[in-house]
Amino acid sequence: MRTYLVTGGAGFIGSNYIHYMFEKYGDEIRIINVDALTYAGNPENLKSIENRDNYTFIKANICDRAAISKIFEENDIDRVVHFAAESHVDRSIKDPGVFVQTNVLGTAVMLDCARAAWEKDGVYPEGKKFLHVSTDEVYGSLPEGDGYFYETTPYAPHSPYSASKAGSDMLVRAYMDTYHFPANITNCSNNYGPFQFPEKLIPLMINNALSGKKLPVYGDGKNVRDWLYVADHAKAIDMVQEKGRLFETYNVGGHNEKQNIEIVTIIIDTLLEILPDSDPRKANVSRDLITYVEDRKGHDRRYAIAPDKIKKEIGWEPDTMFKDGIKLTIKWYLENEEWMKNVTSGDYQKYYEEMYRNR
Ligand code: NAD
Ligand code: DAU
Repeated sequence: MRTYLVTGGAGFIGSNYIHYMFEKYGDEIRIINVDALTYAGNPENLKSIENRDNYTFIKANICDRAAISKIFEENDIDRVVHFAAESHVDRSIKDPGVFVQTNVLGTAVMLDCARAAWEKDGVYPEGKKFLHVSTDEVYGSLPEGDGYFYETTPYAPHSPYSASKAGSDMLVRAYMDTYHFPANITNCSNNYGPFQFPEKLIPLMINNALSGKKLPVYGDGKNVRDWLYVADHAKAIDMVQEKGRLFETYNVGGHNEKQNIEIVTIIIDTLLEILPDSDPRKANVSRDLITYVEDRKGHDRRYAIAPDKIKKEIGWEPDTMFKDGIKLTIKWYLENEEWMKNVTSGDYQKYYEEMYRNR
């Protein structure tokens, strides 16, 4: 039975990936999920699978070398899928240190421990593979309406978050070049879907709209992001590990560019369409809540992925179009009010007040 070590599996994409993998492979695989359970890690995301015999959760920090090497010593790990990271750009602007710690140093620990467990006299056993989950933000910003990010696009990160992810990508590249370390890197565009923490645009706007709070749109609202349904990202990661060429980088995206203001209006219109008149939350939802606020510092104008390589070499294509994915996502948040209440109680209020106080 193949054993996966997933880092950051209690977060948004990691938990969706674990659900995807169990739905696809059932009892054919074993998953060990190592997660520090920061503010972004939520065991509730994995409630429906936590009692499976072929699933193990280990609470540990990826910067803790002793804890990570123990996992490799005690388990014959075949695949590593490395999601664990600090992931929110606004937080990185306020407090970059932890981004360098987790994203750069934590990735270095993961690479070191995997190499120590796998390499024998410069050779790696067949089937051992490390996949580093990265972002399109490492490529910087594109001009309005012009060009795409390719795997060959030079790195030009602007935020502390993207700089730390670029640093982690470079480490993975260095391990591949220096030690012939069996890895892949995926650079994906913006994900949306169930279990996303409401500091990110889409769940934040859904949550605020339902409670009649203002919808804070940064700058002129015309920054463009390229949105992909999270299950399609999970599928791409699996396909890259199964069918991709080792040592290669693959960009992941579904050609779905939208301005932020378009996203916000789609959310409002979809909520008004889906919510029955009898639902008291409907009266709160209105375009009047849209409020243009101070822009994010160093705000990248436009992201757009060219997914040509992953399509051509591996045959990956997204299954979920945005018009369907956004409905699925909004319905999920409507049906999981309790999940949203739990993650927005306590520290989230403090975060929101601090982050949006002057906006
Ligand atoms: P997230 O913030 O929702 O989840 C991160 C997870 O990592 C959490 O469970 C957290 O507890 C865990 N974690 C954080 N620091 C840790 C540490 N030091 N040790 C162990 N666990 C730790 O993030 P996400 O949106 O699910 O992103 C997952 C990965 O995908 C990240 O590497 C991110 O850079 C990348 N990515 C995200 C997007 C996106 O749109 N969200 C797009 C492309 C790539
Ligand atoms: O592109 C991939 C990246 O997408 C990932 O690597 C990151 O982990 C992920 O957080 C995401 O980064 P963004 O900065 O693009 O996502 P965010 O949801 O924070 O913001 C999306 C856009 O919406 C961005 O242009 C900023 C804007 N925005 C965001 C928030 C939270 C607003 O206008 N208002 C807001 O309140």
